[in-house]
Amino acid sequence: MSSAELSAAVAAVRAALPPSARPTVGLILGSGLGAFADTLEARVAVPFEKIPGLPPSTIVGHAGNVVYGTKGGVEVLALQGRVHFYEGHDLQRVAFPARVLVAAGCKTLVITNAAGGVATSLSAGEIVIVSDHLNLLGGSPLRGPNDQELGPRFPDMTEAYDRKLRALAAAAGKDVGLTLREGIYAACQGPQYETPAEVRMLRGLGADLVGMSTVPEVIAAVHMGARVLGLSCCTNLAAGVTGEKLSHSEVTETAARVRDRFIALLGRVLERIAAGEA
Ligand code: HPA
Repeated sequence: MSSAELSAAVAAVRAALPPSARPTVGLILGSGLGAFADTLEARVAVPFEKIPGLPPSTIVGHAGNVVYGTKGGVEVLALQGRVHFYEGHDLQRVAFPARVLVAAGCKTLVITNAAGGVATSLSAGEIVIVSDHLNLLGGSPLRGPNDQELGPRFPDMTEAYDRKLRALAAAAGKDVGLTLREGIYAACQGPQYETPAEVRMLRGLGADLVGMSTVPEVIAAVHMGARVLGLSCCTNLAAGVTGEKLSHSEVTETAARVRDRFIALLGRVLERIAAGEA
């Protein structure tokens, strides 16, 4: 994706917003979590279709809007829904919406997802702060010529998930009565869920969570110098952990059950960011 394409997308977003809008925090809302965008004040929703380069989102549970609004004193730009690698897009395309948020001024990104719990200590419904990731997608959104204006050829990933934002999220969790643990997120291609053998392998590799998203967006955002907070909703225990079969409806049902908690948490995270805590 060229910087010309990025500029065109950012121009389309800006054209739809009030001229005074200066969003500083970007949100990527995963499965069933798009409802947070509906709680923003002074909302303006722009369908993905109106923004060049953003492919229409096809999966149930993902609305497909870029939503501008304010919350807790912060101006945010939220992706209500996202595109996934398994939908057939290449990783550059999958990461493009995150790049649009960063290029539109959001130097802090909060990226959420639904994930399976690989660590046996996790329970369905738990919200986990992502501390690091394993990119098992078989590629990188940075593959191909590097646009030096966007970021370096070889970006450092030592602290892809900003330490201060992680501490801020833990504190925000306490504010709303949640004890949030940290975990390592492994991104697999999907769309089939993992086999029990794959889940055992992931555990051996050090993963606590497994999902099919997030990592391309994080890599692209870090490439552009943004700070990232990753929050996973553990919607189910991964394959083989309990012996129960997995289903997308279980994932969406748990996400729906956790939604109010997640919304409260995100609200507090934004308030703490507004207070300049990280
Ligand atoms: N595996 C992969 N992705 C997921 C899962 C899972 O168990 N649950 C939610 N997203």
